[in-house]
Amino acid sequence: MTSPIALVDGTGFPWPVYGSGTSLRDTDCSTQIAAALRAGFRHIDCAEMYRNAAAVGAGIAQSGVPRGELYVTTKLLPVPAGATAADSLRGALRTMQLGHVDLCLVHEPVGHRDLAETWRQMEACRTLGLTKSIGVSNFRVRDLEEIRQGGASVPVVNQIEVHPYVYEASLPVLQYMREHHILPVAFSGLAPLWRVQGGPLNPILDAIASRMRDTTGGAVTRAQVLQLWLRKKGIPYTTTTSTPDRLYEYLAVAQLPDLDDDDEQQIDAAGRTAHHRFFCKYIDEP
Ligand SMILES: NC(=O)c1ccc[n+]([C@@H]2O[C@H](COP(=O)([O-])OP(=O)(O)OC[C@H]3O[C@@H](n4cnc5c(N)ncnc54)[C@H](OP(=O)(O)O)[C@@H]3O)[C@@H](O)[C@H]2O)c1
Repeated sequence: MTSPIALVDGTGFPWPVYGSGTSLRDTDCSTQIAAALRAGFRHIDCAEMYRNAAAVGAGIAQSGVPRGELYVTTKLLPVPAGATAADSLRGALRTMQLGHVDLCLVHEPVGHRDLAETWRQMEACRTLGLTKSIGVSNFRVRDLEEIRQGGASVPVVNQIEVHPYVYEASLPVLQYMREHHILPVAFSGLAPLWRVQGGPLNPILDAIASRMRDTTGGAVTRAQVLQLWLRKKGIPYTTTTSTPDRLYEYLAVAQLPDLDDDDEQQIDAAGRTAHHRFFCKYIDEP
């Protein structure tokens, strides 16, 4: 694990994060969660939307890692009429058999009757001790502005899709977040490897991995180069895998040297030649 990043509310954000979404959605992922924790991950990302909270809780229990050494993030869906975010979070905690989460996010800005009211309910979750920190996910500048104008506190993070094929389009929201001390947390950072066939990045990633292999004397993979690119940008990431060896491949990034500026610029330039967004396509709408 890399050193935790200080959040604006004074807490620390451990990373890399192991996610229970995408390929693990709707599955009994307890074995994968336990394996990730035993390998060394200390931060699990889950969500109401993934419908696997009981398995996440079971995996945490099976791992034997004490709760005090763990950081758990969950994400809430819009609440039904008459209910509150605290009702949803209490339900999630019961299912996971946890007393609190460390970070609770509004999963998406869409589908809420009143986003500023949703944010006030998130603040209530923190006051009630159900979560230590609160943040958002998939928020655009306009959504962040809406809650800034209606709420008392800023979200500590905005979890968003970031990889080289979407980086250019993300610059305005990243700039806004920098100005307001909101940490970006990437998901789908490895999308160029498995959601895009071929693609202009591949030869660049191979060339950088090959050069790094020569300088470090060990294996360096395309996935590690993409994760180093996020680190170079100052963006911690949520990833996942069902392949046990990949857990160690991801964790080994912490021991690799930073990309140099030229590597970063080459990846940026190749990423700019194609735009691919895989989640929340409304983000690209004017
Ligand atoms: N807030 C949101 O709206 C949102 C949206 C999406 C995701 N997330 C969170 O972020 C987590 C990670 O999302 P993600 O799955 O999109 O992350 P990712 O890091 O982009 O991709 C992880 C996947 O990459 C595959 N992979 C790794 N190396 C590869 C290689 N060399 N070639 C081909 N495939 C390779 C792995 O496959 P194997 O499993 O086969 O090893 C794994 O399933 C989710 O679990 C969830 O917690 C949040």
